[in-house]
Amino acid sequence: MKVKYFGHSALQIKTDKHEILVDPFLDDNPVSSTKSKDVNPDFIILTHAHGDHLGDSLKIGNRNNPLFICVNELAEWLKAKGLNAHNMHIGGSRKFDFGTVKFTIAHHGSITPDGQYAGEAAGVILNIDGKTIYHTGDTGLFYDMKLIGEMNNIDYMFLPIGDNFTMGIEDAVKAVEFVNPKNVIPIHYNTFEIIKADPEIFKQKVEAKGFKCYLMKFGEEIEI
Ligand code: NI
Ligand code: MN
Repeated sequence: MKVKYFGHSALQIKTDKHEILVDPFLDDNPVSSTKSKDVNPDFIILTHAHGDHLGDSLKIGNRNNPLFICVNELAEWLKAKGLNAHNMHIGGSRKFDFGTVKFTIAHHGSITPDGQYAGEAAGVILNIDGKTIYHTGDTGLFYDMKLIGEMNNIDYMFLPIGDNFTMGIEDAVKAVEFVNPKNVIPIHYNTFEIIKADPEIFKQKVEAKGFKCYLMKFGEEIEI
């Protein structure tokens, strides 16, 4: 499968049969050269409803009619907008055509752009084509990440390092130690001035603890 990083928290996962987007913040994402017109997802997974994660969901949803996968309150909001959504919640997992999705806790907020409570913010564990990907969503450090690491063999962990709204570098390094993934990819940094962080410093610190860290360029696609 192919994973493309658009910058911020936005990912595209392409399998032989499906295109899946996570947190498709594209048109207003200053570091993404890919825009909403360039994507054709079958599924959109949302960690929470903040504008920098919900992104172009309505636009893409109205055009492509993908299945949105997210927590119940946000799914209901999307359905009220006429979109197709599957309601889940934290702790629950479900098998879809492309693979399995499980929602985890995240310490963060969630509100829609029109001011509606959108349930809890979440992280997500994806099992696709035999690989396990943990996208933490926006979150502070939490000790239960240790449990997530114990119960899942994480191949790729995507986690924020930009500080201010989420973990900064120091806490993100600790999160990696808790989860013990095979590969680490930092996200949610350098999109805006307020989340400026040096990913090279994060990489050095994480590698010093014995982990493999890869810095994806904004717009880069890798085969995993
Ligand atoms: Ni957020
Ligand atoms: Mn965010």
